[in-house]
Amino acid sequence: MSNDEVSTKSFTLTNNQTGETSILPIIDGTMGPSVIDVRKLYNDTNHFTFDPSFTSTGSCKSRITYIDGENGILQHRGYDIQDLAEKANYLEVCYLLLYGDLPNAAQKKQFEHNITYHTLLHEQMHFFYRGFRRDAHPMAIMCGVVAALSAFYHDSLDIWDPAQRELSAHRLIAKIGTLAAMTYKYSIGQPFMYPRNDLSYSENFLYMCFAVPAEPYKVNPILARAMEKLLILHADHEQNASTSTVRLAGSSQANPFACIAAGIACLWGPAHGGANQEVLEMLDEIGSKERIPEFIKKAKDKDDPFRLMGFGHRVYKNFDPRARVLKQSCDEVLEDLGINDPRLELAMELERIALQDEYFIERKLFPNVDFYSGIILKAMGFPTSMFTVLFAVARTVGWIAQWKEMIEEPSLRIGRPRQLYTGPASRPFVKLEDRD
Ligand code: CMC
Repeated sequence: MSNDEVSTKSFTLTNNQTGETSILPIIDGTMGPSVIDVRKLYNDTNHFTFDPSFTSTGSCKSRITYIDGENGILQHRGYDIQDLAEKANYLEVCYLLLYGDLPNAAQKKQFEHNITYHTLLHEQMHFFYRGFRRDAHPMAIMCGVVAALSAFYHDSLDIWDPAQRELSAHRLIAKIGTLAAMTYKYSIGQPFMYPRNDLSYSENFLYMCFAVPAEPYKVNPILARAMEKLLILHADHEQNASTSTVRLAGSSQANPFACIAAGIACLWGPAHGGANQEVLEMLDEIGSKERIPEFIKKAKDKDDPFRLMGFGHRVYKNFDPRARVLKQSCDEVLEDLGINDPRLELAMELERIALQDEYFIERKLFPNVDFYSGIILKAMGFPTSMFTVLFAVARTVGWIAQWKEMIEEPSLRIGRPRQLYTGPASRPFVKLEDRD
């Protein structure tokens, strides 16, 4: 049963001081743990639940993505991520996330056309870039330029109009790649490359990043396929920190461009999307296999803030299924490009040692998606500062699909968590002359 209105299962909560009881309905989903519905708890008991960092809280119902962290399963709309990464292209996955089903041939053609013909940006956006320092972190620029889209596309800001919601979703998926490529070009002082409508999403993205007007550029099909996989693997991940940020911002009825900019800001952090940059920096710092035990020791030391970047996950207590696909993709890209990156060998040795270490076994710390993505991106020619930007490009569809699902929910209300207040109790104001 997935309808909470007709749920007959419940928990009974008893106040052990007063003996008063409260009945809390259980709501079942299609798969995964059921939830205890606490929406009436405050009214019934005058108590809130307390769950900082939301380790036991389901914040919404969603039909988009399912994760079984214990068994390392990730599915979008019922399809396994491995199948999608191997058999679909990125825009098919975008369609699936947005509309609920894989497109048929006509829908696929129409959707690809819609996205392709929205990749061009308002020309005025070019001036916006010039306001940034050349050495700005690309994620800082992305926060600014994505929010600025709301200043350029006034005809898709009415969130209550389904056609405008769809238009803003298409614009975001299409333009995020152009913005990311421009951000990269700006940081290295090269001219912006306009999008090309004859290329696929991944090919066009690589073209806008690596082509220059002075000579023809041929997209390497191996890199285009690896980019396609990276985009698919990062497309959505249910209610993670940045997606929850997008939903919370959207619950205030803010416009979609502003909401996605909020998601980008959250993704930037090293505990979230910033980890792929940190993995490479960590591998460089470790430098050689001989030094791995020293860094494993640091990661286990409670007095040392160092953590093994690319390891551990709030939800996966098993191998991150995305990491499995990426590891294979990583081998392929390096082999096809003839790159012998010592960091890959170092990463494999680090993974081997960590997976045998009692500390990591006990805490179920496995490599996550960021562990391998950085090595692939480096091989493609991206600097480390661009890694999280690539993650943001891929995740934009997940954010906008989740935002759209939330807005279309009839019971939409602004998100407003409560708190356990632990500050001073009420006290009288003290005049300046009477203060110690
Ligand atoms: N290295 C060493 N110890 C770790 C690590 C790590 N990477 N991750 C977790 N632990 C330990 C942690 O110290 C704690 O130990 P204890 O129980 O003795 O206090 C235990 O494992 C549980 O950790 P936690 O911090 O309570 O777990 P969390 O669910 O709050 O954090 C995490 C999840 C991903 C933030 C964390 O594992 C981490 O910081 N990993 C490194 C950063 C990283 O790779 N992030 C990318 C996440 S995947 C991409 C994405 O979703 O954005």
